[in-house]
Amino acid sequence: MVNVEIAVFGAGYVGLVTAVCLASQGHRLCVVEKDRAKLDKLRSGHAAFYEPELEGMLADAAGADRIHFTNNSGDAVHSADLLFVCVGTPPLPDGSADLSQVEEVMKTILKHETERKKHEEDKGKLVVIKSTVPVGTAYRLKRMADLYGNGAGEIEVASNPEFLREGSAVRDFMQPDRIVIGTSGERGEAMLRSVYRNFDCPVLVTDTNTAEMIKYASNSFLATKISFINMISDLCDKVQADISIVAAGMGYDKRIGEQFLKAGIGFGGSCFPKDLSALTAVGRKHHVKVELLEQVIGVNRDRPLRLMEKLKEEMWVLKGKTIVLLGLTFKPNTDDVRDCPAASVAERLLKEQANVVAYDPAGMANFKSLYPELSARIRFADDAYEACRRSDGIVLLTEWPVFKELDWGRISANMEAPFLLDARHFLEEAKLKQAGFIRGSRT
Ligand code: UDX
Repeated sequence: MVNVEIAVFGAGYVGLVTAVCLASQGHRLCVVEKDRAKLDKLRSGHAAFYEPELEGMLADAAGADRIHFTNNSGDAVHSADLLFVCVGTPPLPDGSADLSQVEEVMKTILKHETERKKHEEDKGKLVVIKSTVPVGTAYRLKRMADLYGNGAGEIEVASNPEFLREGSAVRDFMQPDRIVIGTSGERGEAMLRSVYRNFDCPVLVTDTNTAEMIKYASNSFLATKISFINMISDLCDKVQADISIVAAGMGYDKRIGEQFLKAGIGFGGSCFPKDLSALTAVGRKHHVKVELLEQVIGVNRDRPLRLMEKLKEEMWVLKGKTIVLLGLTFKPNTDDVRDCPAASVAERLLKEQANVVAYDPAGMANFKSLYPELSARIRFADDAYEACRRSDGIVLLTEWPVFKELDWGRISANMEAPFLLDARHFLEEAKLKQAGFIRGSRT
């Protein structure tokens, strides 16, 4: 085992991006991954998911011998002083976060630390939680270390939440708006400040509970902005106002800001839905009223319903009609289809006995494996032109940049009826009209 400064547990989204980006800063790391297939893939230079820039940086880091992948957690714990925990925290049936993987990593660390002979000069380990975890988790892990870490060196636990977005994860990591360090000791702060010494952004140092809450509160606030603008969008529809211009007009106000005011089919993915239900579960547990967040979830859950109403309004009978879903991923530049609105829209269309055709530049394989029963009833096309040929209508669900480059005139000419519903307010209405679409409808 080579000597490394940092070990990262979990080669999922957060773990791999963290490791590769820190390696690019000159740190030497090892990534601990239990999944054999994932490990083999990583060792051959490939990530288990698509993320722009990531594989190139992984190749550079591996070439410079700054990143290693292992399933030997003992080696990692012995060698590194700084241990990042980046394992998954999926939702349990009641919406709260499942922390079993986080606990398991801590148990593993304690086991190896207990076995390790403590040296005189040994200053102990810093365990840093990067996974999104309920408030109080770092504190509990520290208690766990105190109670069960018999013979282990001094273990400090810090919280250092990650704010990266899929599709721009590398850029978000390298140019963060802020770095949040939650710690109970000066050593943790010093070690993390040193890790991030080359980053030019505000660094907020606080206690671990506050750091953990910053992550949940940030994601919940962004999700609230989206549901808010979607509610306004429904109102705009009724009173014939243009939601895109309303959002732009609001966004110029610096107190509001232009970002996360894009109305449409709503938010999906692995973070917002999961973090909102985790935070509402915390509220319920502590008898704090969190109806505001519940409504944010409710507005989002109803977006596909609104789209269906709109489709029926425009297309009348859906039974027997062929409707094309352009875009399946929850956002562009990713192959992630977790909690994607497309699955819910497809389900509803099939219920109406419409024929569903789908095309996505990157997400079709993941869609088929995550929703096998649904996928069996969908026809997947090789490209957007083939998907739309002889269809009765198109619903644009993901704002993939390549969709802007399509020859929309060619598409409309080959359809049974030139109808398109842009559920992302992405394409230019004038261009669609010019391309022969009867009405560039929006939702
Ligand atoms: C989010 C947070 O942004 C990030 O800080 C956190 O670390 C993880 O969760 P991510 O889920 O990758 O990141 O994507 P994001 O770009 O935030 O989009 C989330 C969802 O909101 C997508 O489905 C997107 O289409 C939707 N969205 C976003 C809107 O509907 N309107 C908007 O204006 C912005």
